[in-house]
Amino acid sequence: MKKRVLTGITTTGTPHLGNYAGAIRPAIEASRSADVESFYFLADYHALIKCDDPARIQQSRLEIAATWLAGGLDPDEATFYRQSDIPEIPELCWLLTCVAAKGLLNRAHAYKAAVDQNNEAGDDPDAGVTMGLYSYPVLMAADILMFNANLVPVGRDQVQHVEMARDIGQRFNHLFGRGRDFFAMPEAQIAEEVATLPGLDGRKMSKSYNNTIPLFSSSKELKAAIARIVTDSRLPGEPKDADDSHLFTLYKAFAPAEQTAQMHADLAAGLAWGEAKQRLFELLDSQLEQPRERYHELLARPQDLEDILQAGAVKARAIATPFLAELRDAVGLRSFSQAAPGSEKKKPKKAKKSCRVVSFRDDSGFRFRVLNAAGEDILLSVAFADGRAAGQVLKALQAGELELRQERLQVQALQAGEVVAQSDSLADEAACQGVLQTLQDLAAE
Ligand code: TRP
Repeated sequence: MKKRVLTGITTTGTPHLGNYAGAIRPAIEASRSADVESFYFLADYHALIKCDDPARIQQSRLEIAATWLAGGLDPDEATFYRQSDIPEIPELCWLLTCVAAKGLLNRAHAYKAAVDQNNEAGDDPDAGVTMGLYSYPVLMAADILMFNANLVPVGRDQVQHVEMARDIGQRFNHLFGRGRDFFAMPEAQIAEEVATLPGLDGRKMSKSYNNTIPLFSSSKELKAAIARIVTDSRLPGEPKDADDSHLFTLYKAFAPAEQTAQMHADLAAGLAWGEAKQRLFELLDSQLEQPRERYHELLARPQDLEDILQAGAVKARAIATPFLAELRDAVGLRSFSQAAPGSEKKKPKKAKKSCRVVSFRDDSGFRFRVLNAAGEDILLSVAFADGRAAGQVLKALQAGELELRQERLQVQALQAGEVVAQSDSLADEAACQGVLQTLQDLAAE
């Protein structure tokens, strides 16, 4: 079976070069592999946890959608959708919320960090903490489990959430699976070298450090950002250690191996930082030129983006809708017309063909007997004058219409107050219970 790869991006900002190289580009490459089925989505419900500015949410969704497509994602290959277009996800989120341990969520990093900050500031521990932030990992578990993802490419900070998705999914399987595992167990996947692309100052490229390189802004802006990359003060002609330079790390993330080796050697031979920056600029500008153009075209046609994402939602829901119906059924949210309450208790899977009935004739008349799965006699009818009478009583037994009772260590079936069939005298109480259960199962089959 194909592996399912799934990842989402929270739609609160404009993607920068780090997001692109660290998450989006490798995911697009993975989606081209023949042995994976990929699910990529805009985590716009997650965005609401961090951001209450509707205009920013909307703009970010648009930009992130355009970035994926400009980067070459083929929406016919991958399933590409907005989380908020799949109502099954919040519905599953509730089913999972009802089995997720509060103690588990108490340990989530994002929540704990907020509490720590409050404690440090001497505030109420839960000041400013919404239920959205607190339950964030459950929503993420719903994202992942809805599509039974096997691999979840994420940043290091998200690994804990993938583990929580496993915990929660396992608990649901255990409670409601009745021998079937509804949910596959997902695994986090971290792309080590690229996941931590450095920013202008050498720290991890992140909006919160204000050290990002813009992705699809103009060449001029790209050049200006690169000019601000911090280097050491070695002069032109002085040998430079590429491995100690984040400018080189950035270069390496985009250049083919041979070109990277050349840059490494040239720096060691004294290439000026200004020259190196010019090379980095040319490399990035040439690689980003085409996607940049596509990106701006896409942003100019929001209706096309809308259509692509709507089509993605249809694809995703073709999986989510029937799966959620099974999950609703498993927890007991069913149509009233489907089955009488409690009927599944009488119908354990192994009750299928749990016993056999045999009709026969002996010296006294017409009878039937019931044999259990092991082939042992458990019930013998009285003798009837004719086969039809025997058949009718047997039918009544199979329809659950006979009264079953235990008389000391014997099981009896009664019709209109008369014993019409009974067991031998049995060894003990448990044996009687076993026979009664088997006869009830027979009636439920
Ligand atoms: N929480 C992730 C982040 O901020 C985004 C996300 C939401 C996600 N749902 C997901 C990632 C499911 C992977 C799988 O980066």
